[in-house]
Amino acid sequence: MHDDHNIHEVSAKILINVAHPAMQHVMRLHAPAIAKTAQPGQFVHIQVAKGPYLRRPISLMLCDPIKGTIDILFKVVGEGTRLLAAKKAGEALQLCGPIGVAFSITDTSRRYLCIGGGVGIPPMIFAADRIVAAGARPIVFAGSEVPFPFALASSNFLLPGIPAQAMMTIQSLEARNIPCRLASNNSELFGCHAGYVADLAALWLAALPPQALQEVTILSCGPFPMLQAVAALGLRFDVPTFVSLEEYMACGIGACAGCVVETHEHDGTHYRRVCVDGPVFDATVLRW
Ligand SMILES: Cc1cc2nc3c(=O)[nH]c(=O)nc-3n(C[C@H](O)[C@H](O)[C@H](O)COP(=O)(O)OP(=O)(O)OC[C@H]3O[C@@H](n4cnc5c(N)ncnc54)[C@H](O)[C@@H]3O)c2cc1C
Ligand code: FES
Repeated sequence: MHDDHNIHEVSAKILINVAHPAMQHVMRLHAPAIAKTAQPGQFVHIQVAKGPYLRRPISLMLCDPIKGTIDILFKVVGEGTRLLAAKKAGEALQLCGPIGVAFSITDTSRRYLCIGGGVGIPPMIFAADRIVAAGARPIVFAGSEVPFPFALASSNFLLPGIPAQAMMTIQSLEARNIPCRLASNNSELFGCHAGYVADLAALWLAALPPQALQEVTILSCGPFPMLQAVAALGLRFDVPTFVSLEEYMACGIGACAGCVVETHEHDGTHYRRVCVDGPVFDATVLRW
């Protein structure tokens, strides 16, 4: 895992804030200092309004160090994200970032299997973008029970083990030659695997020859039950597995211990802060 303590506090101009079904929003901000160093798995801590509001942690979905932009995807679940959704292009947001330990994606001999669910999809998109840029091989499986907040397309990649009817992919990934497939239990979402995203990933893993399986590393972010299923996949297929946790946070900078999780490491039990010791952890050290 990659740790970068280069945290900036910036006033970032909102360039776009696009509403998608099910109260999902994709926002692009001008934040050059953050875009320059951010790595997949890291997040920004956003002040959603003036006053007594805690900052809200939101993962980075894409960063363009040349244009100085960062993209985030968020879903309205409460007051903080409702305030964020109401922001208009041209307004400025105060935010800190990039924060946290990123996914380690530097080994170009690995095949990175990126499994994202719901608002856990953004770090997987960022990871796949950087993995392919580094000349390595990502593959993305994304799950959602509400319409995906991305342009979708039919994929031209053939993937072992994946049923032919699960043919839809995220257009921007297909354009970058990143194989991807979608899963949903929502029967209205056309071209998705009917079921959970971890089960879709299991079909692909089960179809790999032993040599190819040995090259796989799993990266994942999503709701806790999905991460439990992904951690079980890692054990079942004996594949290194790293997950990004979305724990409740207060300070977001390691000062309050409000986000602690218990880990079981080679030298014993530890209490790690998700905000700065994570959010990315080796799945085998967590208690599921
Ligand atoms: C490292 C990290 C990255 C995140 N990345 C994203 C992202 O990319 N996109 C996104 O939409 N959300 C993300 N989240 C979750 C997001 O921070 C919360 O949804 C947000 O803070 C809720 O604020 P609120 O004021 O709208 O809701 P609140 O009023 O605070 O809560 C509304 C509901 O959401 C639940 N909730 C609040 N915070 C969390 C949390 N951290 N985990 C689980 N449930 C929570 C509450 O229990 C409540 O039911 C991330 C969280 C973390 C810790
Ligand atoms: S939120 Fe304060 S230590 Fe993590």
